[in-house]
Amino acid sequence: MNNVIVALDFEETQEVLDFLTLFEKPIYVKIGMELFYNGGANFLKEIKDQSHKIFLDLKLHDIPNTVERAMRILGRLDVDMVNLHAAGGLEMMKAARRALGDDTILLAVTQLTSTSEEEMQTEQLIKVSLEESVLNYAKLAEEAGCNGVVCSPLESKIIHENTQAGFLTVTPGIRLASNDVQDQIRITTPSKAKELGSDYIVVGRPITRAEDPIQAYNQIVKEFA
Ligand code: C5P
Repeated sequence: MNNVIVALDFEETQEVLDFLTLFEKPIYVKIGMELFYNGGANFLKEIKDQSHKIFLDLKLHDIPNTVERAMRILGRLDVDMVNLHAAGGLEMMKAARRALGDDTILLAVTQLTSTSEEEMQTEQLIKVSLEESVLNYAKLAEEAGCNGVVCSPLESKIIHENTQAGFLTVTPGIRLASNDVQDQIRITTPSKAKELGSDYIVVGRPITRAEDPIQAYNQIVKEFA
């Protein structure tokens, strides 16, 4: 399977199942809170039964014990990738790692890409640059045993330079040169993301809202290869 993850940002589970029938082979999909809260574990199972891989994007953030117990449950759902907020701290991330089998990829979210440097400094009272904060969280995630981080493709290079080989960067904010940028701000094309060091790209609307989703998917896979 390739490393293009399709963000299934649909409201209804049936829309997802209809959309997936377009694909002849299994793909890697991202399921977020909206769909998971709607369809639950049974819905995940339906997707796994079709041999698709799942990145369950629930961004856990709580005390270590609660996250450990929740991750143990998520681990049983046979998902391939899960995530949490690095802001929950080293102990929380270690607890999550303990709860998951080695086969499940655990990613940390550093600073959300919707957070500006100004917001971070005035609301969170973090008095360093956004890049320093992202890097600090990435290193903390690595120390805790996470497999990588979700970040902007523009941050991949500096993260790779400061973490061990094999530490993953999984990056949304991808657009084909011909696409609308929609609400994404710092975007790159699949080929540029590859060049900058993204290990996986997460792509939603350029595929899900394309006139021909398969053609768009194939083009993105080809560009990212
Ligand atoms: O439609 P689009 O390609 O913008 O979708 C990107 C996906 O990645 C969405 O599910 C969005 O919530 C998610 N995401 C993001 N930026 C982040 C983290 C997640 O766009 N920093």
